[in-house]
Amino acid sequence: MELVEISPSQLPMPLLLEADPCEEKIRGYINSCLGFAATQDGVYLGACLVLPDRNDAAEILNLAVIPSKQGQGIGTALLRWTLEQLSAKGIHRVELGTGSFGPQLTFYQRLGFRVTQVQRDYFLTHYAEPLFEQGIQHRDRLWLSLDLAE
Ligand SMILES: CC(C)(COP(=O)(O)OP(=O)(O)OC[C@H]1O[C@@H](n2cnc3c(N)ncnc32)[C@H](O)[C@@H]1OP(=O)(O)O)[C@@H](O)C(=O)NCCC(=O)NCCS
Repeated sequence: MELVEISPSQLPMPLLLEADPCEEKIRGYINSCLGFAATQDGVYLGACLVLPDRNDAAEILNLAVIPSKQGQGIGTALLRWTLEQLSAKGIHRVELGTGSFGPQLTFYQRLGFRVTQVQRDYFLTHYAEPLFEQGIQHRDRLWLSLDLAE
């Protein structure tokens, strides 16, 4: 497997839709982002879109691994490597929003991300369809942050 920085427009839309169900939203941010990917034999196994939002901070807007390859360490390897690349570019803090429960939250916490804010009712007010996981409706969004200098 190879980890590469690439132009975000090269990333396959079906892969990005794994992390963000709204294609219109993805099209709205994709061209402002830095793109990172895990590839094997020309196939994109994972993708990460990062929006540099201030001089020394950035937001992860999309992180996805193809369903048949999830749970095999690819997401962790891609995110760790992406964080190294961001640090080398002078970015000191990385932020992202995610649900208040479930495997994605555990995934980010294991890499050191910490909760900095709770956005109550975010998923009720920003998504047209109710979002269920493990039989529970997502309501609140957690804002997570990782200080790369630590
Ligand atoms: C979240 C995601 C990027 C993690 O990548 P991954 O390669 O599956 O994760 P890894 O194998 O490196 O790490 C496994 C850990 O990730 C978490 N995880 C999150 N979603 C998972 C999934 N669908 N399958 C397996 N593990 C998942 C679990 O905590 C797991 O730990 P465990 O093995 O102790 O249960 C990937 O599962 C994915 O694309 N999910 C769908 C899109 C998504 O939810 N993106 C995040 C948006 S906030």
